[in-house]
Amino acid sequence: MALKPERILRRLVPSGARLTYNPVFKIAVNAADWPVRRFFPEFRALPPNHLRIRVGVRNAVFRNQLNHLISPARFWMFAFANDWCDLDSTIIDIGCGCGRYAASLRDLSMGDLSYRAHYYGVDIDTEMIAWCKDHFDAPRFTFFQATGRSVTYHQGSGSEKPYEIPLPDATADFVFSTSLFTHLLEHDLANYVVEIGRLLRPGGCAVHSFFSLDHLPTSYGGRHTFRFAYGEARVESLRQPEAAVAYRDDYIATLFAQAGLDEVTFLGGEQRTVLARRS
Ligand SMILES: C[S@@+](CC[C@H](N)C(=O)[O-])C[C@H]1O[C@@H](n2cnc3c(N)ncnc32)[C@H](O)[C@@H]1O
Repeated sequence: MALKPERILRRLVPSGARLTYNPVFKIAVNAADWPVRRFFPEFRALPPNHLRIRVGVRNAVFRNQLNHLISPARFWMFAFANDWCDLDSTIIDIGCGCGRYAASLRDLSMGDLSYRAHYYGVDIDTEMIAWCKDHFDAPRFTFFQATGRSVTYHQGSGSEKPYEIPLPDATADFVFSTSLFTHLLEHDLANYVVEIGRLLRPGGCAVHSFFSLDHLPTSYGGRHTFRFAYGEARVESLRQPEAAVAYRDDYIATLFAQAGLDEVTFLGGEQRTVLARRS
């Protein structure tokens, strides 16, 4: 089969996120963002472009501002409409990146109505956690630096020990992640699912997106091939295994059940979503 241009690019550069740690790339994409910020004040509060690219912009390296804002707004609309959480829910966002879901919830208001509970963000990336700590009001929004290893997202050596989110059991009504499981190898995935089970209160809800080997993304064959087996996962690159990771639905469902979660169901999409509740 002939190699498509995007597939060739992916083999050379398995992860766009990784590029954003390069100082020259950083300067170039942030300089290109300057005129947009200058002429559109509504985009000035956004994180710098290299961080927006790091959390994912579907190859839109220069014109990603609207998408950065719209995806979380859409997520919260469905989260409220489906009773996953409400304005009084304690929320944990694992792999929160530069806080676009947190910002969307913080800025949501109608008259006196706004989010009035506690939001915790967790991420392995030091620069993104520092940005969040500087741009959100503590103590309503608290951010934790996860330990661990990720060739794609962590520039330090990282710890081998399973990371425990520093919060007591049964803290949260809603624990979610977007495009986190797509970058977790088996040991980290299994550990986070145990953490999700531990941290959810009875009745609490978990919602997490992932690449499913049973429902391959539309980018399969071009951008994604998941051609390497890696334990229970299949990955795109052995050089950077965390760049894109996919699992079978059954494996994800079993992990959630083992962590004490039930009512496990799935939603379709480019990334599939697993939903579960703690009884
Ligand atoms: C594709 S980005 C998505 C970020 C955010 N959820 C969003 O949609 O804007 C994946 C995020 O997962 C974080 N991440 C990767 N491995 C992690 C780990 N082991 N623990 C915590 N965060 C991790 C990365 O640093 C990155 O911020």
